[in-house]
Amino acid sequence: MPSDMPAFEALPTHRQSFGPYRVCLVCLGNICRSPMAEAVLREELERAGLSGAVAVDSAGTGDWHVGERMYGPAADELARRGYDGSAHRARQIEPSWLAGYDLLLAMDLDNLADLRRMAAGSGAAGRVRLLRSFDPALSDDDPYLAQVPDPYGGYRDDYARAFDLIHAAATGLTRRFTEFLDVPAAGRQ
Ligand code: 4NP
Repeated sequence: MPSDMPAFEALPTHRQSFGPYRVCLVCLGNICRSPMAEAVLREELERAGLSGAVAVDSAGTGDWHVGERMYGPAADELARRGYDGSAHRARQIEPSWLAGYDLLLAMDLDNLADLRRMAAGSGAAGRVRLLRSFDPALSDDDPYLAQVPDPYGGYRDDYARAFDLIHAAATGLTRRFTEFLDVPAAGRQ
C-alpha cells in the first residue's frame, strides 16, 4: 500500500445526514474493471440489505469509450459469475462530480493519482481510496499489489483475476458498511 494508506482503512464520513452514502468506482475506460465492480458491489450490498443505504455507480478517467457498453470479455466474465452488466454505459468522470460522492474508489495507482489530482484542494481529496484497501486479504506493503490490474486487451484469465480481486474487496467493503452505517436489520431493504 502507499505509505499514507493504512492496510484497512476507515470509511469517509457520510457528507449528508440524509440520502444514501454515495460511492463511485473509477478505472480508466469504464468498460472493464469499474463496471464489473459496480455490478458486484451493488449485488453484495443488496444481499446485506444495504441497497437503499448505499448508492453505487462508476466512471472512467478517460473519454475513449463514453456511451459504450461493457467490453465483451469483461461482460462475459461477469456473466460467467452470475452478474449482469448489460445496462452499463461508459461515462467519463468530471471534476464537478466529485463533491457528490462520499467515497471514490480507484482500481489502480494511475486512477488514484488522476482522482487525487482532480480532487486536490477540495473536500473530495480525503474521500479517494484504492478499492483493494478494503480487501481484508491485502497485507503486503507493495503498492503494486494493492491494485486491480488493467485486463483490457489481455486473456480470459486476466478478467477472471480482476473479478476475483474486485469480489474480495467488494465483500470487505460491504462488511465495513454493515458496521459503519449501523442500519438496524429491520430497517434494511
Ligand atoms: P478499464 O479498462 O479501465 O478497466 O475499463 C480499459 C479499457 C479501455 C482502455 C484502457 C483500459 N483503453 O485504452 O481504451
